[in-house]
Amino acid sequence: MTPELLEVEVGPVAHGGFCVARHEGQAVFVRHALPGERVRALVTERRKGFLRADAVEVLLPSPDRVIPPCPFAGPGACGGCDWQHASWDAQRELKSQVLREQLARLGGISDLNDLSVLVEPLPGGPLSWRTRVQYAVDGEGRPGLHRHRSSDVIPVDRCRIAHPAIQALPILDRAWPPGSTVEATASSAGETAVLTRAARTGPPTGPVPPIRERAAGHEWLLDAGGFWQVHPHAVEAFTGAVLAQLAPEPAERAWDLYGGAGVFAAALAPHCGPVTVVEADRRAVAAGRRALRDLTNVTFARGDVAQVLANPRWRRVDLVVLDPPRSGAGRAVVEAIAARGPRAVSYVACDPAAFARDVRTFGELGYDLTGLRAFDSFPMTQHFETVGLLTPR
Ligand SMILES: C[S@@+](CC[C@H](N)C(=O)[O-])C[C@H]1O[C@@H](n2cnc3c(N)ncnc32)[C@H](O)[C@@H]1O
Repeated sequence: MTPELLEVEVGPVAHGGFCVARHEGQAVFVRHALPGERVRALVTERRKGFLRADAVEVLLPSPDRVIPPCPFAGPGACGGCDWQHASWDAQRELKSQVLREQLARLGGISDLNDLSVLVEPLPGGPLSWRTRVQYAVDGEGRPGLHRHRSSDVIPVDRCRIAHPAIQALPILDRAWPPGSTVEATASSAGETAVLTRAARTGPPTGPVPPIRERAAGHEWLLDAGGFWQVHPHAVEAFTGAVLAQLAPEPAERAWDLYGGAGVFAAALAPHCGPVTVVEADRRAVAAGRRALRDLTNVTFARGDVAQVLANPRWRRVDLVVLDPPRSGAGRAVVEAIAARGPRAVSYVACDPAAFARDVRTFGELGYDLTGLRAFDSFPMTQHFETVGLLTPR
């Protein structure tokens, strides 16, 4: 493709880590820019109906623009961060705008009444937070990080958003099997582990090291590479928000859906009646059962949430927390929850679009969004976590 430079006025932020501009009537999704800027943008992709572009020269900068703390952030470089060029306050404001826009467009909620959609900071600042990092290895065995929307590997000296214990691991200064993936974990118990895979996904090569995680007065022995919230303060923030939203009463029954190793169940159990965790992953369920064996009111059901809830035996529930993967829960699961008439549902979401779609479905079934928190648990990136409260109308 011949390099094509466009001069554009940058418009609002959109979900995906870019802003929207217009050029000759066509939408241009511009990365590395900020709303209100005038930039020269290099077209990186032409699609039917829109273009993708990288701002390579800023003609009129936003007051929110800063020098990226990482030298590998920017056009054509590492694709891991989206907002290194924005102040941390501005990053959270951009994320708040994305949440508001997704709730309006996909959730059908244009009037949020007195719900705040401020994305709150977590302690520790925007760097050195990431406790799980996946490094890619190029065809010559050199480790690094992927370029944005590409399988190219960018060599880096260190990843500035990685937890200091991960930055200290001897990973980036040695060779690895060509084309493999190296996953580094730093745990809340102060341990580190390194796992390799022959490809980006796929089974680990060699033994999977165990890793201990601590939260809510419990300790889990997990497989490195298994799911755990990535930011060191995420579990505390999310469980605190869920507990405040659900306000459990002693005899109430609760479900922790997509429960992983039972972090939300561990936080809820001391305050309510029976808690059932539903989780598909066998290793997470085994780790959860081991870690929470002293909580006699917690049980685990292993299986697909939709299939488990399709069983009419699962009749009564008062409180539900659900924390689905990026794709969201979907209509069948939302219908299955609403059909049981819970008093309160706390929805923990890592994707605002999937969250907004599911909130719309809840609305059709008589549940309104009556509480909303959001956390910047992935600073410098476009990602954030939302915790929404749904209650019957
Ligand atoms: C975002 S994680 C949340 C885990 C847990 N709540 C936590 O905070 O540690 C989503 C979890 O859902 C599980 N999962 C994904 N799809 C599922 C499904 N259809 N049924 C049951 N569990 C599923 C994954 O294995 C993963 O543990």
